[in-house]
Amino acid sequence: MLTLRSPAKINLFLRVKDKRLDGYHNLDTLIQTVDLCDTLYVSLAKEDYITCTNHLAPTDDSNLISKATKLFRVKTGIEDKLHVHLVKRIPIEAGLGGGSSNAATTLWAFNELCGKPATLQQLMQWGAELGSDVPFFFSEGTAFCMGRGEIVQRLPAFTEQKIWIVKPHFGSSTAEVYRNFSPSSVHFPSESLYFNDLEPIAFSLKPQLAKLKNELLAMGFATVVMSGSGSSFFCIGQISSLSIPHTFCYNVAYINRKSSCWY
Ligand code: C5P
Repeated sequence: MLTLRSPAKINLFLRVKDKRLDGYHNLDTLIQTVDLCDTLYVSLAKEDYITCTNHLAPTDDSNLISKATKLFRVKTGIEDKLHVHLVKRIPIEAGLGGGSSNAATTLWAFNELCGKPATLQQLMQWGAELGSDVPFFFSEGTAFCMGRGEIVQRLPAFTEQKIWIVKPHFGSSTAEVYRNFSPSSVHFPSESLYFNDLEPIAFSLKPQLAKLKNELLAMGFATVVMSGSGSSFFCIGQISSLSIPHTFCYNVAYINRKSSCWY
């Protein structure tokens, strides 16, 4: 059995460039992993099954872990089955990439358990079929991503710093946010390293998000920016404790992978 960490990510900046003919949007985004992690216990089994500590996360075929398992079999011709026990800590519908991270970890684990028939490059390519963010999780944790997010340019790690992630009790649907995106809502150029072009749309769909951002800025954070398509924000500033009603607050650090997996 393999015991693997599956980290969350934040988008330090996210520029939406244009809408493509295939319906996706071209992005320029700087992504960083943080030490808010799920844990996956992965082993070969007689049948596929997923168990999970969070009853809100699906354990059926709609889970990206299940899709990753099936895709790996299709690509390699291997017939083995997988049991994955998921200790879920990364909130869902948060813009933190939890599902994509789990999918990447599953592909990596299945490959290890079968004697490494696939290269890392192949795993990244297969990951892109599961979700735009999945290939990023095969990087070392800091990367500039383009295309719909699946073109990954690895970068050296940033100096480690502690930040806060604040997630309201409600989530945000990625597909809904992108469906409502219009280039006119983007303000060029951004004067900050940290920005997210999806904020205006997400805020118009869920006005409580704008309220929460203002509340966090009023608390003294220098930077408060939504991650991905929301609903969470990352907050940079010298604040040592944080408690806000109807939110989950996580004090996290940037992390980078040192060996071949997030162990
Ligand atoms: O790739 P992923 O499955 O994560 O995308 C979820 C949805 O978000 C897609 O169906 C698409 O509508 C939207 N999306 C997009 N442009 C991107 C990434 C996602 O329009 N770059």
